[in-house]
Amino acid sequence: MAKRGLDDIDVTGARVLVRVDFNVPIEQGIDGLAQYTHRLKASLPTIDHLRSKGARTIICSHLGRPKGKVVEGLRMAPVGEQLSLMLGTEAVCVGDCIGPPVEDAISSLDRGDVLVLENLRFHPGEEANDPDFSRGLARLAALFVMDAFAVAHRAHASTVGVPHLLPTAAGILVQQEVKMLGKVLGSPDRPLAALLGGAKVEDKIRVLDNLLTRVDRLFIGGGMANAFLQAQGYSAGASKANEDDVGFARRILERAERRGMSVHLPTDVIVADKFGGDAQNIKSVSVDKVPDGWHVMDVGPTTAEAFALSLKECKTVVWNGPMGVFEYAPFSQGTRTIASGLACSEGVVIVGGGSTAEVVEEMDLANWMAHVSTGGGASLEFLEGKELPGLAAIPDA
Ligand code: 3PG
Repeated sequence: MAKRGLDDIDVTGARVLVRVDFNVPIEQGIDGLAQYTHRLKASLPTIDHLRSKGARTIICSHLGRPKGKVVEGLRMAPVGEQLSLMLGTEAVCVGDCIGPPVEDAISSLDRGDVLVLENLRFHPGEEANDPDFSRGLARLAALFVMDAFAVAHRAHASTVGVPHLLPTAAGILVQQEVKMLGKVLGSPDRPLAALLGGAKVEDKIRVLDNLLTRVDRLFIGGGMANAFLQAQGYSAGASKANEDDVGFARRILERAERRGMSVHLPTDVIVADKFGGDAQNIKSVSVDKVPDGWHVMDVGPTTAEAFALSLKECKTVVWNGPMGVFEYAPFSQGTRTIASGLACSEGVVIVGGGSTAEVVEEMDLANWMAHVSTGGGASLEFLEGKELPGLAAIPDA
């Protein structure tokens, strides 16, 4: 069932509280922020829509994990500055998110103005979903728009408390996320492929479980591939996976075989005698030749080319997790080759959030993908098939 959206509510001239997820790496200051604008950019369509209708837009977000206390380095002001640059108009920042001074600042907003509340998580009531805190937020506006997909897996005051107190609609970002990620679980164009990477199998166990009955091709790279290689009897050297992960990988391979589904695993890998960007001894070896004591750091060139070619034949691809230790340049090539291949693919490519979105942004390929999710944990939980509380709280259309 579709959720109520912006077209279903009249926002003209109204005070509208918008929950966004501007949780960005603030520790790098405003210069650093300029490189991590994906989440801000993704919120602009909703903010622009509200401004075009003369709404008074009140933005609220969390930033980091201050645990219910004011942490100077986690104030929203630098994010507000970055937002102002992107909007081309000043987004006024206030020093709190509830209470009379905030209400005063809101009462002097004109049509089309934008105001940014202070970090919601400075109040313990946010994460505790405290009804008093929800009421304090709800007093600020006449309508609520949920546009924070990336935090929709948290049942907090601003994600589930407020929607029970104010007429609520989904923002444009949330609708787009649900539409695109929902394609993977709904009726995607086929072949449908899942490309999963990242460091640990345990992070992706439930996603794999849920996708296994849906996808036509499964590609596994990154650190999690080690468990699958071990399940096939190969050694992963110093990157040995634990027994639980290997057992899980074995079961996945058996289930895939019963379904007649193709599972693509690395045939060659990049290994190094040290885990780090400054490793001196690095080589490409076939998966049956990983030297004892060496670390598996990336998929090898043959694997990357083969994955890229096969993925290009797929009509829908969902990608979550880098193929190697991407943060170290010598081990980023596998991910780069596959990302470039996906960017040229004619299929619909849906990129999970978190580190995968960072890779795509860093490579400047976001515009070439059909969808880059803003959600890390949220997109994983969505693909696991879980109901996200922040989405469940939005009324149906
Ligand atoms: C994220 O960055 O994944 C979201 O903003 C959620 O943040 P949290 O894990 O601190 O709740």
